[in-house]
Amino acid sequence: MFKPLKKKTDDEMVTIHFNDQALQVDATMSVAAALLSHDIRTLRQTLKSQSPRGPFCMMGACFDCLVQIDGATQQACMTMVQEGLKIRSMQQNPENLQDEAEQNASETGGSGQNSTGADT
Ligand code: FES
Repeated sequence: MFKPLKKKTDDEMVTIHFNDQALQVDATMSVAAALLSHDIRTLRQTLKSQSPRGPFCMMGACFDCLVQIDGATQQACMTMVQEGLKIRSMQQNPENLQDEAEQNASETGGSGQNSTGADT
């Protein structure tokens, strides 16, 4: 899909891990660009329909590129690669999220429902 204009030297490359797969990527790329350069397009799934989502805007607006980077949820397009980053796709299990919503609701006295009903 994306091809570098110029072949990078080993000094210009870093190793990242996506779902335990080691990838050599350009050290000047964002995580999203690096994953796209390896034809990895699906980074998460929607909660309701489990539809695949991947980088779309590449500028921090759509949030379709959310991933776990070293254990924290971050936008892949807004995070630069670094040697040894451990990246995981967002596998949203509706049962786990429902449990979390109910737990949050019981702690805050809310309904636990998403106010928008959007499939995000
Ligand atoms: S691709 Fe849209 S926020 Fe990252």
